[in-house]
Amino acid sequence: MNITDPELVELARTAARNAYAPYSKFRVGSAVVTKDGRVFTGSNIENAAYPSSVCAEANAITTAAAEGARRIQTVAVACIDGASEADAYPCGNCRQIMNEFKVQKVIVTTGTGEIHQHTLAELLPHGFRLT
Ligand code: THU
Repeated sequence: MNITDPELVELARTAARNAYAPYSKFRVGSAVVTKDGRVFTGSNIENAAYPSSVCAEANAITTAAAEGARRIQTVAVACIDGASEADAYPCGNCRQIMNEFKVQKVIVTTGTGEIHQHTLAELLPHGFRLT
C-alpha cells in the first residue's frame, strides 16, 4: 500500500532532525514518494564553503533520481529553525528541480503547525523546460 501524506510529513520532520546545518541552524527535511510508490528522504547538508550546501528537497529528489525515478508524485517539506518548526516553502532552485521530475503535489509544514498543499504549478508557474 502507498504511503499516506501524514506519514510522508512525519518522514520529512524526522529528516529535518537529521539535517547538518551548523551555519544557518535552519534544519530542513524532505520526503518524496515516486510515481511507482518508492519513498526517499533528504535533509539539508551545509558546508563551510556556503554555496557547496545542499537543500533538503534537492537531496531527496536527486537521491530518487539516482535510483531511477523520473516522476515524483509528492514532496513533503518540514523545517526546524533553532528549536521550533518554521515555514518550509521550498526555494526557487528546489522548485525548478521539482519541475524537472514532474512533481504533482508539494506538502509544506508551517511554523504554526499548519500543513499546506500545493500543485507545483502554483509554486512555479511557467517553469522552465527544454522541448
Ligand atoms: N534550504 C533547504 O534545505 N531547502 C530550501 O528550499 C530552502 C533552504 C536550506 C539551505 C540552507 O542550508 C538553509 O536551508 C538556510 O538557507
